[in-house]
Amino acid sequence: MSSDPSSAENPGPLLALESSCDETAVAVIAADRTVRAAALASQTELHAPFRGVVPELAARMHVERFVPLIDKVMRQAGIRGPDLSAVAVTNTPGLAGSLLVGLTTAKALCVAWQRPLIVINHLHAHLYACQMIHPERSVFPAVGLVISGGHCSLYRCHTAVEFEYLGGTIDDAVGEAYDKVAAMLGLPFPGGPALAAAAAAGNPRAYSFPRSMIDEASGLDFSFSGLKTAVRYTLVGPGERDFSSLRLSPQQIADVAASFQQAVIDVVCLKAERALQQTSLPCLLCGGGVAANSQLRQTLAERLTAAGQELIVAPPALCTDNAVMGALAWEYFERGEFSRLDVDILPGLQRGA
Ligand code: KG4
Ligand code: ZN
Repeated sequence: MSSDPSSAENPGPLLALESSCDETAVAVIAADRTVRAAALASQTELHAPFRGVVPELAARMHVERFVPLIDKVMRQAGIRGPDLSAVAVTNTPGLAGSLLVGLTTAKALCVAWQRPLIVINHLHAHLYACQMIHPERSVFPAVGLVISGGHCSLYRCHTAVEFEYLGGTIDDAVGEAYDKVAAMLGLPFPGGPALAAAAAAGNPRAYSFPRSMIDEASGLDFSFSGLKTAVRYTLVGPGERDFSSLRLSPQQIADVAASFQQAVIDVVCLKAERALQQTSLPCLLCGGGVAANSQLRQTLAERLTAAGQELIVAPPALCTDNAVMGALAWEYFERGEFSRLDVDILPGLQRGA
């Protein structure tokens, strides 16, 4: 038997690193996709005073946290570096500084331990989180819907690694709209979960907010900036940017939150159904931070089940950024596709990618 863990019949686990935004995440994952150990260091408190992620601070924090976190996870998994099959890391898309810290850390480990490198796409990984709950079968081909803080896109996923872009937002991402509206309502950062919690006590029909680009001609593209602006004009007049003097009752906050959320859910469900119809694929995979939203999960499930279609949503803990979804790297490993050590980060995503 070969002594090389990456060419052995029973390959050793791989180490996955994720730092595309403000979470430093590490996981050790076996070839059968079982998670040997995983940990995550959140930067929520660091960015909360700014009500958004400050890229420079995020990158510096990844520098501080990666090595101790890797050390901890490797100890928990009971594995040494040279016994790994590969080191996987997110190199696209995301904040440039944050991605660079992750990629540089991964490259250094690959050189030190003489292990191969595998770079992965963060959006593909978000959808691979759906595969993690179905180890008994492949969930591909399927339509993939990524709804996160930075993205809102639909794909025809031929396999875990071959994606065809079908449509996406022409302006704000869904999570971005949640975060901005939450800020207008004076809700804490991060806005998505806070707005969802407030919405639970609200009336989704209290306000009539727009459902943009739902006509057939808009196809599978989305727009959320008009919805965001409509909420703003409901709260303060056009041109007014100061929300600090707003005095809203808890019920008013709940009603605006619920009405906003209903508008988002209506559009997301409609586009998901349209993508399934256009592709004739029977299954929707859904991942990304906003997919953790319980109201959205429930409505999508009800609508797709009623139409006889299958829905696989990533488990809530694997919707927001994490390294477990880096199990996607096994798909490249099994295809014998490794990355060169001079591979770079690709922070931005071209529309249509
Ligand atoms: O996937 P993610 O962790 O990071 C990106 O790749 O962007 O997504 C973060 C986004 C944030 O905008 C956050 O407010 C939103 O996901 N989010 C939610 C919920 N949990 C997180 N939005 C709505 N409802 C939630 N329960
Ligand atoms: Zn993400």
